[in-house]
Amino acid sequence: MPDGRLLAVSDLHVGVAENRGTLEALRPTGPDDWLIVAGDVAERVRDVEATLGFLAGRFAKVLWTPGNHELWTTTQDQVDLPAPARYRLLVERCRALGVTTPEDPYPTWQGPDGPCAVAPVFTLYDYSWRVPGVTDKQQSLARARDNGVVCTDEYRIDPAPYPGIEDWCRERVAATEQALAAHDPALPLVLAGHWPLDRRPTDILRHPDFAQWCGTDLTADWHRRFNVAAVVYGHLHIPRTTWYDGVRFEEVSLGYPREWRRRGHPRGLLRQILPYPGPPEQPVPAEPPVSAEPPAP
Ligand SMILES: [Fe+2]
Ligand SMILES: [Fe+2]
Repeated sequence: MPDGRLLAVSDLHVGVAENRGTLEALRPTGPDDWLIVAGDVAERVRDVEATLGFLAGRFAKVLWTPGNHELWTTTQDQVDLPAPARYRLLVERCRALGVTTPEDPYPTWQGPDGPCAVAPVFTLYDYSWRVPGVTDKQQSLARARDNGVVCTDEYRIDPAPYPGIEDWCRERVAATEQALAAHDPALPLVLAGHWPLDRRPTDILRHPDFAQWCGTDLTADWHRRFNVAAVVYGHLHIPRTTWYDGVRFEEVSLGYPREWRRRGHPRGLLRQILPYPGPPEQPVPAEPPVSAEPPAP
């Protein structure tokens, strides 16, 4: 059994110059460490590719799943494709680098606290995480707009040929669910996605309207239904450990400089998922709201 660690990070946002400096500091603790990169690496395809290539040169294995920023179409990117085609292109580029994607078989972690299959999952959101009293997507978006909280995804993600991102989400969830159901239930899973699979991590968002861009009710029971050792996610830019129904959820984001300058990196730049580091990683009481992705400019 190799003596490595399964580490995780998300929301590197290397399009921001100050975050590029932290890349150099992302180092394995030994030759057998694996690294999960749970989305929001960058917006431009070439930045995502360069970052994952750099990390693949350092870690024994790198696993990636996209965040919303990888799906944006921006004028600074030479690649001008709608989000589903961008995703397929990124999967191809990852495979050329030897990086595992949500489209690949789940590799088995054989290190301490293993074996565990590590599953990068790509599930998106469907506007089902609405505030109380709001019954559909249109109402939910209108309320958010009135409150000045609109995720930039609304302008930058082109879901074509899907009519809406919620249609793509439903297809992603169904395909992922099928793969998880076909997985050997005796081999525990580490599920790693960008968006939290359970809504509860969003309860502390400063802007409750932002939750509609953070996930889907369709994944709410996955950590109970499947044999899950831990769930890794990002997107909220609120790094912490919480436990739901006896399962450890790890928010592993780096975030923007204004966020990490304020809070620092009290638990290091990379979060150790396995072997389970134990207390003080025990149940964490809810923290006061500190952050969320910024509303659109
Ligand atoms: Fe992010
Ligand atoms: Fe995100």
